Amino acid sequence: MQKFVVLADIHLVPEGKLSHGLDTLDRLNRAVAYVNDIHADADFVVFAGDLADHGEAAAYARFKTAIAPLTPPVYLTLGNHDHRPTFLDVMGPAHANADSGCIDHVIDAGDHRVIVLDTSDPELHGAGRLEARQIGWLKARLAEVPDTPVVIVLHHNIAPFDVQTDFIILQDNDAFADAVLGHAHVRQIISGHVHMTTSGTYRGVPFCTFAGAHYSIEPMSIARSGPIPAERGKYVSPVPRREGPGQLAVVLCNSDSVVVHMENFLDRHLVLAPELFAWS
Ligand SMILES: [Fe+2]
Repeated sequence: MQKFVVLADIHLVPEGKLSHGLDTLDRLNRAVAYVNDIHADADFVVFAGDLADHGEAAAYARFKTAIAPLTPPVYLTLGNHDHRPTFLDVMGPAHANADSGCIDHVIDAGDHRVIVLDTSDPELHGAGRLEARQIGWLKARLAEVPDTPVVIVLHHNIAPFDVQTDFIILQDNDAFADAVLGHAHVRQIISGHVHMTTSGTYRGVPFCTFAGAHYSIEPMSIARSGPIPAERGKYVSPVPRREGPGQLAVVLCNSDSVVVHMENFLDRHLVLAPELFAWS
C-alpha cells in the first residue's frame, strides 16, 4: 500500500503579521510536527497551494524553513494566493515543470501515479486555471500509464458546491473533466481552496476537498439561517469563519481502492470575530 499526505491553504505571512487573526506559521509548524509524529512513513507530502497569503518573498522564505524538518519528501504546487515568479525566486527554479512551465509534478510511487497540477492565475482574482499546455501534459501523463491507478492533486475545486464562493472554482473544469473522463484508472481528485470538507463527483469524476490549514468555513443552507431572496437556496456560513479545524488529507492507495482520511492536526473550532473578515 502507498500512503501520501496532502496539505493546503497554509497562507503564510511575513514575520510579525497574522492572517485574519491567525498565526499561520504556528499552524504550519503544528502540521509538520503532526506528519512527522503520525505519518513519517508516508511516501511523500504534497502542499497543494496557497502556500503564501499574498505571494510575498518573505512568506516563501519562512515556508521553506518551516517545511525543512518534514521527514517524507515534499512536492509543492500553487494556488490563487501564490505568486509563481516570487515562489520560484525563493524556492528555486527546479520546482517548475520543464514541459508545462508551471509547478506541475508527476510522481510514480509503487503501483500508483500521482499528478500534481498548478492552477494559480493572479489575473483571475481567486479562481483557478489550467493552461492548454497543462491539459495536454495531463492527457499525455494519463495516456502513458493506462493500467496504473492515478490520483490528481490540484488547489482549486473542480465542481461548484452551491456556496457563495462558486465563482472562484477551477474555470477550466470541463476541459479538466474531458481530459480525465475516458481514463478509468483516475481514482480520485483532491483539492483544498474552499476551506471545507466535501466529497462528490463532477460529470462522473470523483473528487474531495479538505479544510486545510487556514480558517474553516461551515456551509449551511440559508433557508435555515434566514432567507435573503437573492441568495435563497444557497449554502452560506452561519458564522463568519471558524478557527479550525486545521486539517490535512491522508491518502491510502492499494490495488482496489483509494481512501482519503481527513485528519485534524488542530481541533480548535472557535468562531472568529466578524471584524477579521472585513472583505466578506
Ligand atoms: Fe485558494
